[in-house]
Amino acid sequence: MIVEATDTVWPRSHDSVRLIRADHLHSAVADGRIAFGTDLADGHLLDTALPHPGLVTAHELLTSKVMIVDDEEVNVRVVRKQLQRLGYRNLSSMTDPAEVISELHRQQPDVVLLDVMMPEVSGFEILEAMQADNSLRAIPVLILTAMSDRKTRLSALELGANDFLEKPIDQAELAPRVRNALMIRACQKQLRSYAEDLRTAVLQRTRQLSRSRLEVVHCLARAAEFRDDDTGQHVIRVGHFAKLIAHHAGMPRAFVDMIGFAAQLHDVGKIGIPDAILQKPGPLTEKEFDFMRRHCDMGNRVLSASHVGENVLFGIDRSEHSDDDTMMEPEEMWVSPVSGMAATIAMTHHEKWDGSGYPNGLSGEDIPIEGRITAIADVFDALSSKRPYKEAFPIERCFEILREGRGSHFDPELLDVFLSCRPEIEQIQRENREES
Ligand SMILES: [Fe+2]
Repeated sequence: MIVEATDTVWPRSHDSVRLIRADHLHSAVADGRIAFGTDLADGHLLDTALPHPGLVTAHELLTSKVMIVDDEEVNVRVVRKQLQRLGYRNLSSMTDPAEVISELHRQQPDVVLLDVMMPEVSGFEILEAMQADNSLRAIPVLILTAMSDRKTRLSALELGANDFLEKPIDQAELAPRVRNALMIRACQKQLRSYAEDLRTAVLQRTRQLSRSRLEVVHCLARAAEFRDDDTGQHVIRVGHFAKLIAHHAGMPRAFVDMIGFAAQLHDVGKIGIPDAILQKPGPLTEKEFDFMRRHCDMGNRVLSASHVGENVLFGIDRSEHSDDDTMMEPEEMWVSPVSGMAATIAMTHHEKWDGSGYPNGLSGEDIPIEGRITAIADVFDALSSKRPYKEAFPIERCFEILREGRGSHFDPELLDVFLSCRPEIEQIQRENREES
């Protein structure tokens, strides 16, 4: 980048230093000959080619918002004139210190040149107020002061000032100090924008991950159902019914959303039940039924994080990866609220309120609520669906059978909640019919 000198050459040996007249500034900026970093002396622009091209362009630098705060109009005029000569074009000024904070909020300048000695509200008070305000704290402040004593400087630094300019302002000093403050501001903005981009990317990735995890949940649920319900609609309806009960029982939103997915996996343990038992046309023998009962524990083992180390899932043998640092720990792989809830549901959806269920004979509120909810959803859907060995019962008959189990099979309160939702239940049935 070379900018032709039109007048005298500035007496510096650095190759990147060039001079142009101030009135050539805008065209030089506009066509990109100046990257950033400008000083102006005696009507000339000095391009110093600072070491981080790309961070901020001269155009961005010179159009940054600079606010001058001084109760003396004449002082404001002097600084304004100097900044204009340096090429800054976006200047504002305040002579009433009482209005400064509201103007800072309105204008959000990139740097403030702040007088200390002002009537009514001092520069220190303004600094203090800026520090206490999240939206103003990051704005760099250069203190304009006639006082050069150590105490004033320390107080200003303590209150968050970035730098000082002694009155009368020396333009050669003003240029680098304003520029440096604006560079700090540019860095802050870039960092903020980077953090925002990162946050957006993480959110997007998390959503994708969550979506793909839920797809896996559904695929796993369908795989378990495939042998006796190849449409997969049963698991979807059970998820909807469980969600409906949880919602009307006043459970928190996160729980309601989660059970809609987790309940779909209630019978995932059927993967481990042989076809000869699962698809047997007639009634099961006691021994076969004992084996069938094991689907609760099997489902729990498939879904529970504590068993991943036993390589239940996908045959992963961690011993083969003992030197692989990229291998995630089991907890990182599978501890998720959905799989945790699904494991509980798999284990407890055949427990009964009176303790006569299986596999552990739990009773009442010892049965986790997600298991009690899914029990109602599962039994209702089995009753109201057509199966190879039976027709679908009408909804009145299903409700009658459920009522017979009130307080024995089912949690009475949760059952009442479910039975009071007939219109929504019928809507779920309409929207999730078996495909013929
Ligand atoms: Fe089951």
